[in-house]
Amino acid sequence: MAGHVAIIGGTGKMGQWFATYFKEKGYQVVIAGRFPGKTAKTAQILGVGSADSYSEAVKNADIVIVSTPIEATAKIITEISRYMSKGSILFDIASVKKGIITALEKAKESGIRTISVHPLFGPGAKKIRNRRFILIPVGKDTELMQTITKLFEDDGATISIIEDAKTHDKIIAYTLALPHFLNMLLGNLLSKADFESYKFSGTTLALQLMLTESVFNEDPRLYSMIQMSNDQFHKLLVILLESTQKLARIILNNDTEGFYRLFKDTKVYLSRNPSFEDSYDRLYKALEAIEEKTKE
Ligand SMILES: NC(=O)c1ccc[n+]([C@@H]2O[C@H](COP(=O)([O-])OP(=O)(O)OC[C@H]3O[C@@H](n4cnc5c(N)ncnc54)[C@H](OP(=O)(O)O)[C@@H]3O)[C@@H](O)[C@H]2O)c1
Repeated sequence: MAGHVAIIGGTGKMGQWFATYFKEKGYQVVIAGRFPGKTAKTAQILGVGSADSYSEAVKNADIVIVSTPIEATAKIITEISRYMSKGSILFDIASVKKGIITALEKAKESGIRTISVHPLFGPGAKKIRNRRFILIPVGKDTELMQTITKLFEDDGATISIIEDAKTHDKIIAYTLALPHFLNMLLGNLLSKADFESYKFSGTTLALQLMLTESVFNEDPRLYSMIQMSNDQFHKLLVILLESTQKLARIILNNDTEGFYRLFKDTKVYLSRNPSFEDSYDRLYKALEAIEEKTKE
């Protein structure tokens, strides 16, 4: 399946990633943005085509990808779907889906085929192999689901299908927004220490700090939206505050029994992961691999 791909927001980090991905697969790629000069410059660097407007980019496209900030995506879907040809495919790649699936459902009424995609990786991913995508159906289009699944699976990616936006946002609240939040909190608490914590890092902090530092190397605009636009995460924040207080009380009250119970109960959940048992070994392997790479 090759053809024409248009990427709205193609000047951005993920837009460029998808432009390169589809170009390397043999598709004719055109990117579009709000500023034609900036778009043309990026297109030249990537070796793809550029369009002066969204409408021009999408009119002959077989696949249109909307890779714009979360808060702008629903409106852009509504705007561009009017210019797309009947039967062509449209998907977004936003990290939070509330409102976006509704926009895709409306867009479908004009005869285009829509689905929602969430790549669970950032632009740093060199290859698609072993990376994960979440797909969310929009209405019943089993064939489109199969087409998009095959497109990415053929390159070695793993696909998970989630039925609706609310479930997606709930899962993402736990798997993306929560780790970001905890890393932000850790980084912020460390920044209040009156010593350089990285100089004293043992194994746990060495690995953890790598995650924390990588979060702070990211784009604060995207990260703020992952926290602020996901109302499922706001529900989780209430649980997080209660759990923090509970654990703090256990510790401050010297409640050893309570501590052991919490440890045991949590371990029961975590040990459902088949690789739980060798997590300690993997931690050291990961550290050694990173140290080796850093030496090179
Ligand atoms: N970065 C990640 O790790 C990652 C991972 C998975 C999914 N995503 C999702 O991918 C999408 C794009 O993320 P990104 O990191 O590539 O963002 P980005 O680098 O900021 O790129 C977004 C592009 O959208 C355009 N844009 C910016 N503000 C806009 C606005 N208000 N209205 C319309 N267009 C606007 C810009 O292009 P012009 O200035 O040329 O118009 C910009 O280059 C987001 O929905 C995000 O949730 C990101």
